[in-house]
Amino acid sequence: MTFYEFLVFIHIFSAILGMGPGLVMTFVVTNVKPTNMTELKHAFKIRNSLHILTMVGGSLLLITGIWMGFLNTYWFTQGWYITSLILFLIALAFGPLLLKPRSKPIKRLFEVYNGEDIPGEYDTLSKKLFHIEHMENIIFLIIIALMILKPF
Ligand code: HEM
Repeated sequence: MTFYEFLVFIHIFSAILGMGPGLVMTFVVTNVKPTNMTELKHAFKIRNSLHILTMVGGSLLLITGIWMGFLNTYWFTQGWYITSLILFLIALAFGPLLLKPRSKPIKRLFEVYNGEDIPGEYDTLSKKLFHIEHMENIIFLIIIALMILKPF
């Protein structure tokens, strides 16, 4: 196995281990539909664990992707490569710029709210957060398609 092939190997493994959990982060709270605060808080704890895998996988994807570009500089002339890189950096910036400001009020609500009934405020706040998460997922799906098809 060449070093380049080793990078492809790590890249694809990271794609599965990082992007898989990332793509179901919204699903674990919207599809299972927690019925009380205990379940809801637990669902968010599961999301936090999934997010760790996404961060590790995502970092490895970026590092190995750029490394492969330096080893085979032809990739830098390809549209799919440059587009993916730009989209990935945009998705990365979503974290501090769009996701954090929308998840912070939910975490604060969990800290200050004592009842077991899920308050209406949670629905309003979570809708805003999940809307951005859906956009982020679409970006990642586009990148995956670009990676496989390398269309331009
Ligand atoms: C959501 C993020 C990403 C996912 C899920 C992903 C996934 C994949 C997959 C599955 C392949 C194998 C496709 C094939 O060769 O048929 C691949 C190839 C590749 N990826 Fe990514 N990737 C991501 C981000 C990136 C980024 C940000 C870069 C560049 C900075 C990059 C650079 C590459 C390169 C150069 C190859 C081609 C390797 C080769 O065929 O020699 N990837 N990627």
